[in-house]
Amino acid sequence: MQETPIQQRPIGIFDSGVGGLSVLKEVRKLLPFESISYFADSGNCPYGSKTREEVLFLARKHIEFLLEQNCKLIVIACNTITAVAIDHFRSEYGIPFIGMEPALKPAALQTRTKKIGVLATENTFNGRLFKQTFEKHANGLDVFIQPGYGLVELVEQGEQDSETARQLLERYLTPMMEKGADTLVLGCTHYPFLKDMIQKVAGNRLAIIDPSDAVAAQTKRILMEYGLISDSRRTPRLNFFTTGEKKMAERFFSLAVSGPFRLEQIGR
Ligand code: DGL
Repeated sequence: MQETPIQQRPIGIFDSGVGGLSVLKEVRKLLPFESISYFADSGNCPYGSKTREEVLFLARKHIEFLLEQNCKLIVIACNTITAVAIDHFRSEYGIPFIGMEPALKPAALQTRTKKIGVLATENTFNGRLFKQTFEKHANGLDVFIQPGYGLVELVEQGEQDSETARQLLERYLTPMMEKGADTLVLGCTHYPFLKDMIQKVAGNRLAIIDPSDAVAAQTKRILMEYGLISDSRRTPRLNFFTTGEKKMAERFFSLAVSGPFRLEQIGR
């Protein structure tokens, strides 16, 4: 049997759950001819407060799984896993990895009050990447760091528009707005699902910075640099894998992509 040319192999995207679909959507806009294998570890979600060892162990399993799917490049569509583990994986595996970076730079360029809020998980705030990005781009700014406890769970349950989501966001965003923040960085790939509710709570007082499109652009740049762009005459294949509930995954995946896809539930 002939081997699939490397360009035709899928891009792997994974997250602790469905949050990474916010990144997948942007990747599909920029790279509509790429096949994608998306892995959602909804069965083990959330990762935000897990130990470093747990995150490393789980993320390594997902990468091995995506490599078995023959992926040519892997997007870690999770700020938490990027923060804890991307350095390990880059030196361990022979394919390119794209990760999430806290979008402090665009926020710094955009804020007028020089005060910005960042919403992310505990693990993301504790990682080296956040500290580095902070030192590089937060000079002269007041940065209000707010862990988004409970928000990932709500999104996973499809409850992003619920009263509980509104109350949590009000609790997290009001103090930073009262201190003058005019810009909010979404430092977790689940949070773009809460954009409508954030807008309800904050009105036009907070400009929302979502790095998903920048990550998609970086994915395209790296594919081009490595000569890995897919042949546009082929119909892309979309394969979704979840360790969570199939019904819920189906709802999320069909919202994220129009057209056919294959969904498989796999063991944890
Ligand atoms: N989407 C993940 C992130 O970007 C959520 C982490 C979690 O599971 O708590 O950080």
